[in-house]
Formats: sequence, structure tokens, C-alpha cells
Amino acid sequence: MKRISRRSVGWMLCWALAAGSAAGRYSSFEPGQIWKDNNGVHINAHGGGILFHEGVYYWFGEHKIAGRAGNLAHVGVHCYRSKDLYNWTDEGIALSVVTDDPNHPLTAGCIIERPKVIYNPKTRQFVMWFHHELKGRGYTAAMSGLAVGTRPRGPYQYVRSVRPNQGVWPMNVQESHQKPVDRKVMETHYSGGSLPRHPDVLNLLGKGYVTGQMARDMTLFVDDDGTAYHIYASEDNSTLHIAELTEDYTDHSGRFVRVFAARWMEAPTLFKHKGFYYFIGSGCTGWAPNAARSAVAESIWGPWMELGNPCEGPDAELTFRAQSTYVLPVQGRKGAFLFMADRWNPENAIDGRYIWLPIEFIPAADGYEPIRIRWRDQWDLGVFD
Ligand code: DGJ
Repeated sequence: MKRISRRSVGWMLCWALAAGSAAGRYSSFEPGQIWKDNNGVHINAHGGGILFHEGVYYWFGEHKIAGRAGNLAHVGVHCYRSKDLYNWTDEGIALSVVTDDPNHPLTAGCIIERPKVIYNPKTRQFVMWFHHELKGRGYTAAMSGLAVGTRPRGPYQYVRSVRPNQGVWPMNVQESHQKPVDRKVMETHYSGGSLPRHPDVLNLLGKGYVTGQMARDMTLFVDDDGTAYHIYASEDNSTLHIAELTEDYTDHSGRFVRVFAARWMEAPTLFKHKGFYYFIGSGCTGWAPNAARSAVAESIWGPWMELGNPCEGPDAELTFRAQSTYVLPVQGRKGAFLFMADRWNPENAIDGRYIWLPIEFIPAADGYEPIRIRWRDQWDLGVFD
């Protein structure tokens, strides 16, 4: 057996101490600052979402590389683990891009954005959905990717990418949609910019009925009864869809609604508080920040009532120079929700920063409680006490 010298024991001790002091370093959030993982490396999980499973939070997000190249997927979806939300341990790449097959849909250089993972207790599967664009085709594919795993941190196996809800009309379809779509509209590959014309004039919903609905920025939401929903920016980003997933979470059930028609909203997040559904999202301005949007509804199917920008403080009209990605219910604290947003850096994607802030509810005698998100340089979970 190889003997370990006293010197290497010393080095191992130093390494263990260094690792120990790196972990457990944080006892507060510092929005916008470098946020180091257990290895002392800035967390690389952009456009992320969080799964809470068996006492542990798992943070999944886009692994970015340096420079503008980092806006494409060269590595995959990164996973981190934490028990306290301040200190994160690197769990590695949960879903990898494919490096040896240029024809694979997940080939390196494609786009993987806003991955979200939910757990299905019936199938005991971890189910990841993400916004997926094919390599070299900009944002025109507008698809949702699916991957599944048997452990929270993965590895996840890629299953397929789809344009959801092909051949089914939303529950709130209008007669004007159910008519043939102009040939030019059918042949155009829309890329996600603001359209000069109203999507209903182009009938992008009718087009999506034939091709499957376009799906870009997205989130997942699991309701109290275990039903999961996929919320995605559709109709060339002009209109959001809220779509029910099947019982195993790996497909769309065909029940869906269009919401905020022609409001050009993206970066959707959804959460539930005291029986009301809340939405926070953004306008549609590429990587540049804009004012957050929010809304409330008594039923997930709507009607949704817009509440405006909940942000307050410096740069509130730009969502603190960030864009929503997820709202996390803090475990063990009723009514405690954490707003997660990305301060993108498209010139050096890896240096994107995380803006995490508490959501405050303004008490109301009855009905829903309006929300606000105030800027804080530093804060901790004590704000929820
Ligand atoms: C805004 C979206 O929210 C991001 O996820 C990303 O798709 C950028 N647009 C690309 O411009």
C-alpha cells in the first residue's frame, strides 16, 4: 500500500481547512456582488431555478463561459447544492451539451436557457425543462427541451425538444384565431424581437396550432395538488402561455391559456401566496434590462390582473439592472418568497451577477396582498421573521 508522507498529510490538512473556510463563508446575501461557491469560484448558474428536495436546495442554471461566446451553451446546465441558501457547493454539470455529434440537437454552441427542475413523486423522476435553440439558428427554433434524471444533481438524460401544444387550441382561443394563416407568416422564422404588428393580426397562435407553439423564456410551477405548469413566452414573445403538464411532467396535457396577449412579456416567474397566484416577469428587450411586470390571479387560468413594477429603490425602473428568473418559496417560513433575477453581462457572460431580494407583501384586509421588492445592499433570511 502507498504510504502517505507527513508532508502530504500537512498539505491535505491545509487544503481541508481552506475548503472548510470557503464553505460556510456567507451569512447574508449581497445582490450584484461576486458570489463564490465552495471552491472560491463565482457561481455559474444563470437564468436559474431552484429545487428543494429532502432538506436540500439545488440551484440549476446556465453554465456560461467568458466573452460573448458565453451567450451560447458550450458546457450545459450547472448544479449547486445548499442547505442555508447562502453557501453553495458545486455539484458539477447536471445536463451536458454534446461535443462529439454536430447533428445532435444539444450540440455545443446551441442555446440552453432558464433550466428549471421539478420532482415527480409518482415516477420518482427529476424532470428538467429548458428553453432550447438549435445551433446556428439564433432564436428561431423557439423550443422547450426536456431531460430527466434519477438523482437531483443528475446526470440528466436529454429526451427531446418540442414546440408545445401542437394541434390543440388554448382554452381561451378566439374565433379569429381558428382560421387559415397567411402563407408568408407560415414561412417566416420569427426570432424574438418586437414585432411591428399585433400578433393577433399575424395570427401567430394559429401558426403555432400547426407547427407547435413557439416557446422561449420559461419557468415551471407545481401547484399544491401536484399539478405542474409550464409557463413560456410564445407567439414570438408577444404573449405568454400557461400550459398544464401531464401527470408525469414529461409532456403537455393540452390544457393551456394565453395570457397578457400582445404585452411582450418574458422572464416569467410564478408563485402562490394565501390562495392567490402571483406572476413576476419583464418586458422584452434582449439582454438589456427593463421594468419588471407583476400580476395576480385567483385561478392559474386567469383572469390575470396586472399590478405593475413591484421594484423600489435605485434602478427600480430597470429591475435593479436585472431580469427575473425564479421565485423561491423559502422552506419552513410561511409567506417567505425570494425573488431571483439575473444581471446579465452579454459581453462577458460568465460575469453575470445574481440579484436575490425578499418579496414583501403589503397587508390587505381581504383579497390579494400587493407585493413589493425593495433594493438591499445586504440582507439575510431574518427579514422574513
Ligand atoms: C432575454 C431573455 O430573458 C434571456 O433569457 C435571453 O433569451 C435574452 N433575452 C437573449 O437576448
